[in-house]
Amino acid sequence: MTDSRDINEIHTPVMVDRVVALLRPALQAKDAIYVDATLGMGGHAAAVLRSCPNARLIGFDRDSEAIAIATERLREFGDRVQTVHAVYDEFEERLDDLEVGEVDAVFFDLGVSSLQLDEAERGFSYMQDAPLDMRMNRVEGITAADLLAELSEHELRDLFYRYGDEKLAPRYARAIVAARQQANIETTGALVDILQAATPAAKRNAGHPAKRVFQALRIRVNGELDALESALPQALKRTRLGGRVVVEAYQSLEDRFVKRTFAEETESSAPRDLPFIPENMQPEFQLLTRGAEQAPAAEAELNPRAKPVRLRAVERIRKSPA
Ligand SMILES: C[S@@+](CC[C@H](N)C(=O)[O-])C[C@H]1O[C@@H](n2cnc3c(N)ncnc32)[C@H](O)[C@@H]1O
Repeated sequence: MTDSRDINEIHTPVMVDRVVALLRPALQAKDAIYVDATLGMGGHAAAVLRSCPNARLIGFDRDSEAIAIATERLREFGDRVQTVHAVYDEFEERLDDLEVGEVDAVFFDLGVSSLQLDEAERGFSYMQDAPLDMRMNRVEGITAADLLAELSEHELRDLFYRYGDEKLAPRYARAIVAARQQANIETTGALVDILQAATPAAKRNAGHPAKRVFQALRIRVNGELDALESALPQALKRTRLGGRVVVEAYQSLEDRFVKRTFAEETESSAPRDLPFIPENMQPEFQLLTRGAEQAPAAEAELNPRAKPVRLRAVERIRKSPA
């Protein structure tokens, strides 16, 4: 980070007051454990630790640069903080490594961090020319350029439909396959040019043509949906009675999965015509949010990254014996 100002001034976490208010009731006991599954630059984590002096943090992030920045930002909290360079899909395994059983609160702030978006050379942004990388963990896995070189036309089309909800998916897939026969597509700029040229004139004013394709590539490169589908059930399982799980999602596929999972956990499994609900069919969680909460208008105006956020939260109200 080249900016010499205090990181607390330059980075404002999304809906931070609401996140703290939702997590705080679960973090009052001495040594209550708060897992931040997406530590990023530690903005939410700092606010939670400040507001809950008895809590200690276990913070995961797959990006070693994020871990380094968060570790520095959270230094003032001393041994209340443990940062772990790990993917959140290994939620239970990593807690086992730390000999932690149940936890009191878990927070997921999904997607890429502003740090990752702002670092042009990481290839997440269609606004700046850079190598087409898009890996959150830069030491392993395939890059977006690899995907564009290797996927067939129909695999590219399905990817853009599925993870980008891109209506022009067939056109863009065709254009990419034609272009790569001339030269490998290795930079964000080259991809943007191909997409722009393939966009019909009538659609050129309907937002940036690369937006949804970039989103789809990023989700696939980082296995983002698979990771969430694996991690959220693990987090719910490890949450103790009275514990809370809060999720901020920024795109509809992720939010749909969170909504469905929370609905399953908060509804009784008893057939509707039973006159009473037996204890073992009572839901184990209750919803703390009605529908998805969005950022207040004033926040969304100041911070465009807050605009698409959908926040959902649950609290454990029952725990069946293991
Ligand atoms: C939106 S940012 C979090 C920002 C953070 N709440 C803050 O206040 O600074 C999301 C973070 O999650 C991380 N991340 C994404 N997928 C992950 C995964 N499967 N496992 C661990 N970390 C992941 C990213 O590297 C990124 O740093």
